[in-house]
Amino acid sequence: MTAPLPPLTIIGHRGARGLAPENTLAGIETALRLGVDGVEFDVQRHPDGGLFLLHDLTLERTTDGQGLAAAQPFETLRRLDAGHGERVPTLHEALDLIDRRALVNIELKTWNGCAAAVAEVIRAQMALGWDAAQFIVSSFHLPELQRFCSALPEVPVAALYCGVPLSGAAELATLGAAQVHLADEFVDADYVAAAAHDGRPAWAYTVNTPEAAQRLTTLGITGIFTDHPERFLRPVATAPVQ
Ligand code: G3P
Ligand code: MG
Repeated sequence: MTAPLPPLTIIGHRGARGLAPENTLAGIETALRLGVDGVEFDVQRHPDGGLFLLHDLTLERTTDGQGLAAAQPFETLRRLDAGHGERVPTLHEALDLIDRRALVNIELKTWNGCAAAVAEVIRAQMALGWDAAQFIVSSFHLPELQRFCSALPEVPVAALYCGVPLSGAAELATLGAAQVHLADEFVDADYVAAAAHDGRPAWAYTVNTPEAAQRLTTLGITGIFTDHPERFLRPVATAPVQ
């Protein structure tokens, strides 16, 4: 029997990827109805300027399209089936749906002006009443994340790593990161402690069992990205959207 988990921040990964098509409005709504603390999704900037939700640079795995997403006209991209009849959402659509019900983690997946474009959208939402602290912007592409910080310094950012940086947690200070998001298989307790010492919480992705979460909490992790929020939370409203 696993011991009870200490309080953990629960973030729906790509919406609620284990329950609904990833990076879709149905997935985001599913996560929200389960009572997540926040929802994470991946955002790319199309060469035409539109911001859309998609993890891969190519279309085959998650849609009925083919090839590079950036090679498709934006309107073609929008008509693709992203699973169960869901469409590829725009960032605006996702934020309209969430409507301040939970923390929003926008992961920047491209570095073609994505940071500046996302900053512009968030600034517009803040003018409509969103608080800067209701967002976390993250990226593996740290120069792009720095560009976001320059564009909109009041919004917290998180550095993403799939490994343990040689430079240690000092890079987080250089970046101005409020927190760090780590691949679960590379969570190093010394690194996490150093980040925490400087006031920067560490969250881990992708964590799908309470046993895995339990292990990570012993390493200092305080939040998890999960495909299965229902394994950590009780529904707060109706059943998940199918
Ligand atoms: O932001 C956490 C996690 O989503 C990072 O990895 O590949 O699932 O976008 P990935
Ligand atoms: Mg992601």
